Parts: sequence; C-alpha cells; structure tokens
Amino acid sequence: MTESTLDPARHDPRNPRDPHDPAPAPTATPDAPTAFPQDRGCPYHPPAGYDALREERPISRVSLFDGRPVWAVTGHALSRRLLADPRLSTDRTHPDFPNPAARFAQIRERRTTALLGVDDPEHNTQRRMLIPSFSVKRINALRPGIQQTVDRLLDAMERQGPPAELVTAYALPVPSMVICALLGVPYADHAFFEGCSQRLLRGPGAEDVDAAREELEGYLGALIDRKRTSPGEGLLDELIHRDHPDGPVDREQLVSFALILLIAGHETTANMISLGTFTLLHHPEQLAALRAGETTTATVVEELLRFLSIADGLQRLAVEDIEVEDVTIRKGEGVLFSTSLINRDADVFEHADALDWDRPSRHHLAFGFGVHQCLGQNLARAELDIAMSSLFTRLPGLRLAVPADEIPHKPGDTIQGMLELPVAW
Ligand code: HEM
Repeated sequence: MTESTLDPARHDPRNPRDPHDPAPAPTATPDAPTAFPQDRGCPYHPPAGYDALREERPISRVSLFDGRPVWAVTGHALSRRLLADPRLSTDRTHPDFPNPAARFAQIRERRTTALLGVDDPEHNTQRRMLIPSFSVKRINALRPGIQQTVDRLLDAMERQGPPAELVTAYALPVPSMVICALLGVPYADHAFFEGCSQRLLRGPGAEDVDAAREELEGYLGALIDRKRTSPGEGLLDELIHRDHPDGPVDREQLVSFALILLIAGHETTANMISLGTFTLLHHPEQLAALRAGETTTATVVEELLRFLSIADGLQRLAVEDIEVEDVTIRKGEGVLFSTSLINRDADVFEHADALDWDRPSRHHLAFGFGVHQCLGQNLARAELDIAMSSLFTRLPGLRLAVPADEIPHKPGDTIQGMLELPVAW
C-alpha cells in the first residue's frame, strides 16, 4: 500500500453533498478565483485544487458555493495576526457572514449564539464560565475514566473479532462517552444526538440542519429542566447550580452551551481518531517508529493534528477595513482561514507535506488561534493520546480491511474525517 494508490485529485462520488449546493469547481481559471471549500481527493492532504492558493500565500481571493468572492488566508504568520484581530467577527447571524455551504446560509438567523458565534465582550463572559472545566488539571483527572472507556470498547472489539467498522466501534463512541460523562448527558441517548449532530453539520439540506438543531435543542432543554429539580453530576449541573459572578445562566444560554459542547466535543475528536488511524495505516514507516517506541503518542498526535487539519476553513467577517500585506480587506467582506494550507506553510514547517515525528509541530493552528482557540484542546489531546496508543498496543496487527481508495471520506464543506473505516487485525 503506497500513498500513490490514493489520487489526490479524485473526488469520491460517494461523499454526500447538499443537492442544492453547486459542486465546487476543481481548479481556478485565469478569470475565476479558486472555489472554496473543495473536497479532498486524498483524505489527509489539502485538495489539489488549492495548489494556486499555496503559490499565492499568504492571502488570496476565493469564491464561495454561491460565487461570492471572499479572502482565503493561507500564511501562518498572517493567520495568527488576523485571528487575533477584533475587527474580524464570528457573528454567524450577520447577513454577510461567509458560510461554506448553502445549508448554513439559509438558517443564518438561527445560528449559534454561544462561544463560536459571538464576539467579545459577550464571548469573554461566556468563555470564563467554562474555562475552569477544561483546564489541564481537570482534564488530567479525567484520564483514568477515558482509559476505562477505551479499554471497554477495545475489549468489545476483541470479543467480537475482526473485521470491524472502526468509526462506529471506536472512533465515535470514545469521545461521545467522554463528553457525555463530562457534561452529564446520558450516553444511552447517543444514537439520537449523534444522528442530530451529523445532520446539523452535514445536512444534506437547510431543512435537515434546522430540524436537527431544533430536535437537539428540545432534548437538551428537557434534560436541563430535569437537572434543575434533580441535580446530577456534570458540567451542565455545575452551570445550573453554581454561583456565577455575572448572575445565573439562563435556560437559552445553557441549551446553546450544551449544544456546542456536545457537538464539538465528539465530532471533531472522532474524526481525528478515524482519519489519524487511516493515515498511520497508510504510512507504515512512521507507524513502525511509533510501535517501536521511537517516538511518543503525544508527539504523533500533535503532528497528526498539524498534518490532517480537520477543521479546514475557519470563517470570519470583517467589520472594519483592515490593511494587510498589499491588500485591503473591506468592511463586510468574508475571510476564511485554510488550516490545511496554514499548517503546511514552508516558512514554519520544513518539508511540510511529509508526516514527520521529528519536527516541532506545536505551532500548528489546527485548534485555531486567538480568543476562539479551541476550548476543548486539552481534552482532545488526552482522548487522542489514550485512544491512539491503546488501539495500536492492543491490536498490533491492525490493518485496513479493504483497499484504501475504496474507503469514503467526508466532503470538503464539513469537518474532515472518514465516513467509515473497515479494519481487521
Ligand atoms: C481534535 C479535536 C478538535 C479540533 C481539531 C478542534 C478544532 C477547533 C477549532 C479550529 C476551533 C476554533 C474555530 C474558529 O476559530 O473558528 C475550535 C473551537 C472550539 N472547540 Fe474545538 N476542536 C477539537 C475538539 C474539541 C473538543 C473535544 C471540545 C470539547 C468540548 C471542543 C470545543 C470547542 C469549543 C467550545 C470551541 C469554541 C471556542 C470559542 O469560541 O471560544 N473542541 N475547535
């Protein structure tokens, strides 16, 4: 199995796409800017259609699904500067906010008003309520519980025997069980909220996204009401019953926190486990180094975060004119950050297209940068460390059960990952 068996320019026709979204143009012509986002051909490399953007680093014009021109930032230094600039807003309800697909634009007025959807000072007030629960100390205390969850799932896989579908048997349940325990959401309801979460992120259409959000909000609202009268254990219970300097958290706010934490808490990490495993199985030399103890799982996880950049295309709206390099980003223009290209900026990462355990990867922007930098990154690192090391230790013969190019991955307008991952051992 070699990397060349995966054609980086090939679009996988099995990747579901909103039928209302025009298919993205694969390459730019002299008159038309590059379409953004595009589907990856090889699931762990940026789309070949972004090559022109690499050449134009650090900032280019690209066009969204509806043809609207926006900026794509692809340089590492410029991204750090702009992601820390308060003149770029994350207000997703704004009519000019640059959405990656029609299904998000169509429900603009009902998009999140928690964390990732609000600017400072409101954002800062919200974030301060949650930060203590995601500190390194609090997350370290969760490690034994995460290890138990991982062990139980691997026990079940071994009992069942090969082959297995790794997304449903392992990649999804690990973070899903962990975030449920952290929030105080019953894991018994996982089929319901995982289904809602998938529809919310991937549609296929605006109606599905909207209905999924409403169903999930209804479920979380009822759960919060029950917790008011019979408190349980978890972050949601703490938020309901703890004294806050800014006064009690209202129901609507609690529901929006629960929604963003539940979705961000399981979808992203699940994609990292599935795509990370696929990538390791496709890089036998690097995997052998990990198995031989020549590197640590923490190092591998950090380099995989850089290399895979699963949250590719962070979105912002300019609320004032901003002068950068030799361009002016005008008030009202959209700005996207392509983490897959930023994390392969040759000024910061040597031979950036290679998976290399010996490089310093820590400066990657896979968790974003600035005030919205990922709140759950300590949790994600702990889960990935435990999940990846246990998987390859317990199943030393782990391999793909079908040829790599037959395994479907997610489309470009959502978080990147494998749709399924058939494995044997
Ligand atoms: C490997 C897994 C993960 C990746 C790659 C990831 C990536 C990101 C990125 C890139 C952002 C910034 C988005 C932007 O600036 O537009 C972000 C924000 C966020 N992430 Fe994560 N994330 C991961 C896991 C998690 C987990 C486990 C949680 C747990 C609850 C979480 C919760 C959040 C929240 C709440 C925000 C919004 C923070 C804010 O606006 O202040 N993420 N994440």
